Amino acid sequence: MRCDQTAAWKALQAHADTFKSFDLRSAFALDPERVKRLILAAPYIWADLSKNHTDTATEALMQELARQTGLAAHRDAMFRGEPINNTEGRAVMHWLLRQPEGKLPGALAAPLQEVQGTLKAMLAYVEQIRADVQITDVVNIGIGGSDLGPQMAVLALQDFVIPGKRFHFVSNVDGHELAGVLKGLKAENTLFLIASKTFTTIETMTNARSALAWFQAQGSQDVSRHFAALTTNVAAAAQMGIITTFGFWDWVGGRYSLWSAIGLPLAIAIGAQGFRDLLAGAHAMDQHFQSAPLEANLPVRLGLLDVWYRNFMHYSSRSIAPYHSALRRLPAYLQQLEMESNGKRVDRNGHALPYGTSPVLWGEPGTNGQHAYFQMLHQGTDVVPVEFIAVKKPTHNLAEHHELLLANAIAQAQALMLGQADEGGHKHFPGNRPSSFLLLDELTPTSLGALIALQEHRVFVSGSVWGINSFDQWGVELGKVLAKDIHARLLSGDTQGLDASSAALLQRVLG
Ligand code: F6P
Repeated sequence: MRCDQTAAWKALQAHADTFKSFDLRSAFALDPERVKRLILAAPYIWADLSKNHTDTATEALMQELARQTGLAAHRDAMFRGEPINNTEGRAVMHWLLRQPEGKLPGALAAPLQEVQGTLKAMLAYVEQIRADVQITDVVNIGIGGSDLGPQMAVLALQDFVIPGKRFHFVSNVDGHELAGVLKGLKAENTLFLIASKTFTTIETMTNARSALAWFQAQGSQDVSRHFAALTTNVAAAAQMGIITTFGFWDWVGGRYSLWSAIGLPLAIAIGAQGFRDLLAGAHAMDQHFQSAPLEANLPVRLGLLDVWYRNFMHYSSRSIAPYHSALRRLPAYLQQLEMESNGKRVDRNGHALPYGTSPVLWGEPGTNGQHAYFQMLHQGTDVVPVEFIAVKKPTHNLAEHHELLLANAIAQAQALMLGQADEGGHKHFPGNRPSSFLLLDELTPTSLGALIALQEHRVFVSGSVWGINSFDQWGVELGKVLAKDIHARLLSGDTQGLDASSAALLQRVLG
């Protein structure tokens, strides 16, 4: 049943009306069990959800909403490999990529075997490249899910990266990016990875062709040694002359593809064992999502909180605050994960929705954000839930720095909640501003895998409750078609039939 038709939804609406006077400070004062109840443990992640705008009634009603919308059945359908991506007629099985060696029953046995065979081949190649001292630079050419995941993870795991190799990521069709990277490279020392699920994406194809042309212009010929394609479309790669290929499957969505051949640059960076550890961490979170009861299930709790905030409290954005500089690309990664998955205005059957879906995600690492936009979080007119992400143990020995970092993360969450009442006017902090706090013991391939899988599943949960297809992205198509038309017009100068504003822009660019 669609969420807004359920009894739980109506009860939540009534509950939200009575909730206007909710105050975190009194919630803690009145309920000594609050912290205990709202601290959750999931594999590799400890989560404090107590500073959120919920009470026991909210929590119970949200779980009821999950039951009435059939969340568990939908989750189980995904893990059975059913084609829940209904607009593309595809299964959603990125979780299969992190399934440990062994067997699965029925229809999943054959794909799992393929996954494991491909992973072995990929990791053998990875070790070969790691041992190859002639290759000093690895350039990943890809965009969206074929860029953000590996880029974010190579940065996040910088302490695990093999010395002697540099990793570059080229995504934008803007030639400044490719030209800037190529400037510092020598063809004989470079491995280009052309990462594209479809092998049709215009940015990636254009960058790949230019990289090939640059490579050949240096007098280099051995494309099979210096270029590899990571794709589901091996035939298109071969047409470009790239015969070293690592495949994956149409049941892996672009933004869920880090675990597939798209993770190859990361695997070169952290090694075969590191990559297997990443998969193991994610698998542990898959198991938690599948088996923990709803009330103890961290992705379920986070996804339901997202629905409560979006539809009942009308908070339309979420700020991501990783208190770890190596997680600086995490907000960008999560933007695609959440907003491309759940930025939908129709339900699974194509009917327009009367309620909001994906929030806007944004953020920067702490403490930098504190000196930029946290002003708005503390004293602005909108309430923005903040998600703090911190790591207990650093990998450096600058103890004071890490103490200050963690102190700031905890203090910001505290300041948002407590506010400051004793000073009026400009110095008044209203407080009662919500936040969640995710804490990892260490930032390792394993814990990063768990953190990313947690985020994937929480997006699944809110998308499932909203009754949308979180696994298509039709909204990116129109821009692609129009860009082709405008490109042709840029070459011909023809502005006929264009809207007046686009025609003026084109003329200005051409003039
Ligand atoms: O245009 C959106 C999108 O399709 C994303 O979903 C995807 O991650 C990205 O483009 C790149 O696609 P591909 O890997 O096929 O080049």
